Amino acid sequence: MNQPIAVRLYQGTAPEKAALESLCQQWDSREFWPVEEFYISLKIPHTFLLYAGQEDRWQGIVLGREMGGVAELFYIYVDPLFRKQQLGKRLLLAFRAKAWELYQAERAYLEVRPSNQGAIGLYEGMGWKRTGRRARYYANGEDALIYEWEPLNPTLIGTHL
Ligand SMILES: CC(C)(COP(=O)(O)OP(=O)(O)OC[C@H]1O[C@@H](n2cnc3c(N)ncnc32)[C@H](O)[C@@H]1OP(=O)(O)O)[C@@H](O)C(=O)NCCC(=O)NCCS
Repeated sequence: MNQPIAVRLYQGTAPEKAALESLCQQWDSREFWPVEEFYISLKIPHTFLLYAGQEDRWQGIVLGREMGGVAELFYIYVDPLFRKQQLGKRLLLAFRAKAWELYQAERAYLEVRPSNQGAIGLYEGMGWKRTGRRARYYANGEDALIYEWEPLNPTLIGTHL
């Protein structure tokens, strides 16, 4: 039986940097960030990057930052070859567990395009609640939907990764 893909915390090791750089080149640049943006983000305190896969070979990532007890989810991405295999779900569970474990974040939020029905389906299926909308938030004039998720504290939700 295949082992489930592990989700790990990025530590900035040489194999991890090589994996991130190569994936930023391989993955669809319309959807995925350039590597410089990851490195700029990762310098900001309380920013954490989780990846699914081996240290030198990744199938998905989630990037977040905690501030004032709230964890913002900036970005989640699963390699198109590994989509619809519950990896997005596993990354969200790991995001919730780490935001609590590292920073005791009580809740999380994110912004998403209303046109991104795949991501919205994932978030709503995991219990995120829509709490607002920012008009014309994106460069193309599209609004952003705001979603929130709580509690992150595993003793309150009863499960953790
Ligand atoms: C959104 C994304 C992370 C989902 O990853 P994934 O690994 O395919 O998601 P999962 O397999 O864990 O899906 C879990 C649930 O989410 C929902 N879902 C996922 N993709 C979906 C899609 N394309 N359409 C509708 N619902 C979807 C489903 O309810 C699914 O449950 P099911 O498989 O039992 O039907 C992935 O499609 C992706 O990387 N997209 C590009 C980047 C992006 O848009 N990120 C979000 C904005 S930052």
